[in-house]
Amino acid sequence: MNVRAIVLAAGKGTRMKSGTTKVLHDLCGRPMLWYVLHALRAAGISGIVTVTNAELQERIGEFGVTGVLQNEQLGTGHAVRVALDAMEPDASGRVLVACGDMPLVCPELFTSVVEAAGSGALALVTARIPLPSNFGRIIRKNGGVERIVETRDASPEELKIDEVNAGIYAFDEPALREAVGRLRDDNAQKELYLTDTVADFARSGKRVVPVLAEDPVHVIGINDRTELARARAELNSRLCALHMKEGVTIVDPVTTYLEPELKIGRDTVIYPNTSIARLSEVGERCAIGPNSRLSNARIGNEVTVRESSIFDSSAGDRTSIGPYARIRDNAQLGEDVRIGNYVEVKNSRLARGVKASHLTYLGDAEIGEETNIGAGTITCNYDGKNKNKTVIGRDVMIGSNTSLIAPVTVGDGALTGAGSVVTKDVPPGRRVAGNPAKPLPGQ
Ligand code: UD1
Ligand code: CA
Repeated sequence: MNVRAIVLAAGKGTRMKSGTTKVLHDLCGRPMLWYVLHALRAAGISGIVTVTNAELQERIGEFGVTGVLQNEQLGTGHAVRVALDAMEPDASGRVLVACGDMPLVCPELFTSVVEAAGSGALALVTARIPLPSNFGRIIRKNGGVERIVETRDASPEELKIDEVNAGIYAFDEPALREAVGRLRDDNAQKELYLTDTVADFARSGKRVVPVLAEDPVHVIGINDRTELARARAELNSRLCALHMKEGVTIVDPVTTYLEPELKIGRDTVIYPNTSIARLSEVGERCAIGPNSRLSNARIGNEVTVRESSIFDSSAGDRTSIGPYARIRDNAQLGEDVRIGNYVEVKNSRLARGVKASHLTYLGDAEIGEETNIGAGTITCNYDGKNKNKTVIGRDVMIGSNTSLIAPVTVGDGALTGAGSVVTKDVPPGRRVAGNPAKPLPGQ
């Protein structure tokens, strides 16, 4: 049996009061829609058609699904019609319909609703949600599901029902095609409601099978910014739980901000107020945080990062960073490197054992093993037009407050005195000082 999915994501998202389409809003580093598609794929469903508006259609490529543009948002039933028109009919197929605004959904719900929908039938996920709520209400007759009523069309009596429609359905495909063809917009919103297919199935004697979501949190729809914040907190706590289960200590999950698809090694400890983002990889036995940000960072084992940020950069085993350091734009720190407070490293390669412990800027530099960079050292890499390179060899002593006017090279084993302004290359073993730096007497 062929199962395809339609994801409804074209809605205006009016209640978000935003210039951005609702399902593109960010939750833990991914657009809301990403989570729904991820859960569908985890349930083994790969033929996915997403109903889009113009803004989403432009970006649909990033999601790896087919987008079908719904020019006018005339309701969830209309959206399904538009999708079906773009899909090759399959007389024995099933169609799962889900909404793009329920990022907390789990794959198991998709699997169970598809299994419940037999030939000619409709299965839908229901939930018990505390009142009041904005979900469509399930109206039963003689125990069976008779129809769904939207809150705006519901009577006060119907609004007291806490059994609601989650917005996830699995249909026998030919029966769905017939039912959406018959939808009418005679309701409060003048829209074609997909939910009216339930009454259509029930009336014509087809089976309507409710599938209760055990945990209502899985079906929470995001309609406004408060729900967005709640969903983010829930997703984040799931992400933390995932890593804690794998042996990571997270001192305070509430103030540790993670994203999907991170790698964090065993016995690493994450201290509060720390975020790890964009496919970062952290090794084992590291100490990360407090107050740190890692984004697209590659961190080895036993690395310490305290009150610092690392963006698009890497650090080797046993390296120590911070407090208050900024490592960015392809900075590559080798093993056993020490970066201390108020040090910025940009687009530079620091070999094993390099130390820059205080108040330093290293930009577009290459620094050899075991070299010590004194406090207040600046690589003057920018001459107003171009970024120039500074090359420093191994076992070099750069004195405190040295300015290195790039492009410039300091050879292995050389030394610069405190306050040197290095304007010319320094040969290996040479000791220089002054402004401009000159060889010391006896050199
Ligand atoms: C819908 C259901 C409601 C259910 C709730 C669950 C209908 C009529 N109502 O209400 O019974 O309890 O979901 O969360 O279906 N969309 C389109 N095109 C449109 C309209 C909407 O693609 O023309 C998309 C939206 O982007 C959204 C989804 O469909 O992802 C649901 O639309 P929304 O307006 O949020 O419906 P609800 O009022 O939440
Ligand atoms: Ca909704």
